[in-house]
Amino acid sequence: MSRQFRIAPSILSANFAKLGQEVTDVVASGADIIHFDVMDNHYVPNLTIGPLVCESLRPITQAIIDVHLMVKPVDRIIPDFAKAGANMITFHPEASEHIDRTLALIKESGCKAGLVFNPATSLSYLDYVMDKVDMILLMSVNPGFGGQKFIPETLVKIRAARQRIDASGRDIWLEVDGGVKIDNIAEVARAGADVFVAGSAIFSAGKGADPHRYDSVVAALRAELAKVA
Ligand code: DX5
Ligand code: ZN
Repeated sequence: MSRQFRIAPSILSANFAKLGQEVTDVVASGADIIHFDVMDNHYVPNLTIGPLVCESLRPITQAIIDVHLMVKPVDRIIPDFAKAGANMITFHPEASEHIDRTLALIKESGCKAGLVFNPATSLSYLDYVMDKVDMILLMSVNPGFGGQKFIPETLVKIRAARQRIDASGRDIWLEVDGGVKIDNIAEVARAGADVFVAGSAIFSAGKGADPHRYDSVVAALRAELAKVA
């Protein structure tokens, strides 16, 4: 297996009263990427965190900060996140008037760029921008909330996206977001994903315990991934 698997805890399920410590702990526990969910109470019916929080977290971790924008419009906020230290920025094509321009804006800001696909959104948005994306993020729940159930039909879409990536010959990461747990992460990997967002699965596992309390859940996720050959 040549694919490198990366685990991306979604801090949406972290304890916001001690967010810095949560990030430090989850990275110390072996997570690769901090998945940063930005919601605007407009594109999705929830409200979360913005560039100020990203800027506060940047100095405390070397981990990649993967900003998932669930906002509309998207363009105005992109330079702010780049300045705040984001490494990757993804957006939903339905939320941008000019998808190619938004991808270019993210790259010009110095970040890796990606498109996010809701469960009912067609992969055809990739047809003319495959050479411009660094990441494809497939939602396996409808965006807006953590703790939802994985939509099994996503597996078909993961396989289709994997075929597109392999045919492109480019190093494009395939991330899956929503309802990923110890009992389904291997199946998601077998379908072709290589970046796994997990919010409630990771953060609810450590409630009430000591620092570095995410070691066992991250290890359990990795043990499942190790079965995928
Ligand atoms: C949902 C967010 C997800 C969410 C995942 O809109 O994009 O990143 O936090 O949470 P879980 O892993 O609990 O489904
Ligand atoms: Zn997300």
